[in-house]
Formats: sequence, structure tokens, C-alpha cells
Amino acid sequence: MPNTDSILRFEKVTVAFGGDPAIEDVSFEIRAGESRVILGAAGSGKTVILKTSVGLLRPDSGRVFLFGQDITEMKEQDQFDLRARVGMLFQESALFDSLNIEENVAYPLLNQKAVNCPEDQVHARVEEALTFVELGHTLEKFPSELSGGMRRRVGIARANVTEPAMVIYDSPTAGLDPITANNIMALIVKERDVRHATTVMVTQRFQDGAIMARYKYDRATETLVAATPGDASIAGLKFLVMKQGRLVFEGTLAEMEQSKDPYISKFVLRN
Ligand SMILES: Nc1ncnc2c1ncn2[C@@H]1O[C@H](COP(=O)(O)OP(=O)(O)O)[C@@H](O)[C@H]1O
Ligand SMILES: [Mg+2]
Repeated sequence: MPNTDSILRFEKVTVAFGGDPAIEDVSFEIRAGESRVILGAAGSGKTVILKTSVGLLRPDSGRVFLFGQDITEMKEQDQFDLRARVGMLFQESALFDSLNIEENVAYPLLNQKAVNCPEDQVHARVEEALTFVELGHTLEKFPSELSGGMRRRVGIARANVTEPAMVIYDSPTAGLDPITANNIMALIVKERDVRHATTVMVTQRFQDGAIMARYKYDRATETLVAATPGDASIAGLKFLVMKQGRLVFEGTLAEMEQSKDPYISKFVLRN
């Protein structure tokens, strides 16, 4: 039986700044076990969608439902418990420079009441989350001592350490060289497939979405392997394309590759 629990639903959502809509009339729904890749030109509203998803921005019209609960007008205090079920990697990782890596990754465990992690388990969970992204040896280091790719991996560990039901990644590969970017994508796929969390990823690189759509994590070999069409990992993966604040496409990788729309096909790399 497919799990049809609603994780996130936008109903005709408009968010405006000074009268200018950043996103306009955007509707979509993500159910448990599904994932989304959000593409779109710079300034098209991708980050605004992510922030609105967790109540960091409020709709001017329309409604937002997180885990089935209407958060449109919910008091911020009341949103904290829902937000604690979402892991977030913001653009540029947004690590705390004055905290070491262990403290950075421990932050959501210690500061989200709803997570309720016993203090004597924090260290073990941080170590596990960092080992998962192959950074188990960096606990004592500071962000400034790590490369850009390593900082991004710390951000992935921090986003996943609470084992959230949904993980949001904003441009996880931006500014990285292609090899490092692919390593980051491999970790995101691994997190998705080991924990079965709903993954929502904004990216500039169509290849990132294609990796999410074509590969799954194989525990036996500890590598990514090609997924087959029936695989649960990729069954619920769709692409959303934003254009000037409007959601102009929602569909599978194949549908995206077949699109005749010039704006859509611009994102699709052809070999
Ligand atoms: N806090 C803000 N104040 C004013 N305008 C904003 C704010 N956040 C985003 N915008 C505007 O909303 C539009 C969409 O922004 P954003 O979602 O960040 O784009 P992107 O797709 O590059 O992530 C842009 O025109 C941006 O300038
Ligand atoms: Mg953005």
C-alpha cells in the first residue's frame, strides 16, 4: 500500500514583497516518500517556496499545509514542533563560524524541543551523522578549516541529524566543482534512500535532478547504482520548474526531457 500522507501542500500561494509577487498562485502537493527537484532561473522564487514551506515567510494569499496542518496563519510558537520535523540546508550551508563542527551539527538536537534528544546521546548522534557524510574525523575543527565541499557535507549532516521526515536542500551544489558536486549529490541520494525521508531540492544544475531520478543508494556496495523504474526511491520523484514566480511545469524526468517548451528544455542537458 502506498503511503499517501500529505507532507507539504501549497494551495494557490502568493508571496509578495512590497506589492511585487515573488511567487504567484503556486499549487502542488508532496506525499510521504515522494521527492521534488525545483528548477528555475535566478530570482524565479525557488528559495521563497522553501522558506514559505516551513513558515519562515507567510503567504499573502493561498494556504500552506505542513504535515497536513494548516500553517498559513499559525502562530510561530505553534509552528516550532512542525518545523522540527524538517531538516534544512540553506544556500551556502550557513554554518555558525564560531562553533566547531560537532557543535554545529548538535545545534538542532539541542535547540529543537520537539526533537527531545537526551543529552547523553547527542555526541553519538552527531558522530553518526558526520560519519554518514564521511566527516567523522572533523568534530573538533571549525568551519573555516574545511573546504567548501566539506562545509556542504557538514550542512547535510546537520540537516539530517534529527532524522526529519522531510529534508530541504537549497542549492546544495552551487559554487562547487563538478566532481565535488557529484559527491554531494551521492550523499543526498544516500540520505534519501537510507532514511526514506521526503527530499526537496532546489538546484541550478539539471544533472543534480537527473542523479536523483536515475540513481539509488545500494547498501551492499555502498555506492549509487542505476535505479529501475519500479524502485521506490525514484517512484515519487518529480521536477517542478519555476518561471518568474509561477510554477510552469510539474512532471517526471522523462516528461521534462520530452518537453517542447523552450524555457523547460533549456534546463535539460542534451548529450
Ligand atoms: N526578503 C525579501 N525581500 C524582498 N524581495 C525578496 C526577498 N526574498 C526574495 N525576494 C525577491 O523574490 C524573488 C524570488 O526570490 P528567490 O526565491 O530568492 O529566487 P531564487 O529562485 O533565485 O531562489 C526575487 O525577485 C527576489 O528579489
Ligand atoms: Mg535561491
